[in-house]
Amino acid sequence: MSKKIAVLVGSLRKDSYNRKIAEELIRLAPESLDMQLVEIGNLPLYNEDLEENTPQEWVEFRNRIKNSDGILFVSPEYNRSIPGCLKNAIDVGSRPGGKSSWKGKPGAVVTCSPSGLGGFGSNHNIRQAVVFLDIPMMQQPEAYIGNVNELFLNDGKTVNEKTEPFLTKFVNAFEVWVNRF
Ligand SMILES: Cc1cc2nc3c(=O)[nH]c(=O)nc-3n(C[C@H](O)[C@H](O)[C@H](O)COP(=O)(O)O)c2cc1C
Repeated sequence: MSKKIAVLVGSLRKDSYNRKIAEELIRLAPESLDMQLVEIGNLPLYNEDLEENTPQEWVEFRNRIKNSDGILFVSPEYNRSIPGCLKNAIDVGSRPGGKSSWKGKPGAVVTCSPSGLGGFGSNHNIRQAVVFLDIPMMQQPEAYIGNVNELFLNDGKTVNEKTEPFLTKFVNAFEVWVNRF
């Protein structure tokens, strides 16, 4: 039976490179991983007061995460850290207290940037937050994808012949990681 993987993209931009890389990871994934994008741009900003009358968007998001067998984060770096939209999604999924949706779901992170550093700071800030939420994170291979704007073919969607084997290796390692739990 295939494993359901929630893919969260930390950019809301229409032409986001991170979304394109997420879509390529989905395309290259082995059959046993049913990888689906879970949108985070519609989630109201986390405010504990709203738990009294929980927004429907939070309820649906929490259910999507609870019904997943694993989580893949694909994100840019904003000011050397996690983009606010992704941190908000992580926070929404972590509550109400004692009922986190993330607990025990195996995870992995890919960060992409047009700069050479590949979102290293964001990658490790994501790890820092989600390890606390009891998401066991895949350690190797790491994926800091730099110069991401240069990695696509003329169609603007498909990654070049050097990048595809790396993404394939990453998503195959993630399959092995997910199956350990
Ligand atoms: C608010 C903001 C902060 C940024 N900070 C960083 C940064 O710290 N490191 C970095 O490599 N790129 C930074 N960038 C550039 C992003 O990497 C670039 O805009 C990238 O294309 C965003 O990812 P996306 O294409 O998936 O939207 C920043 C962009 C914005 C809008």
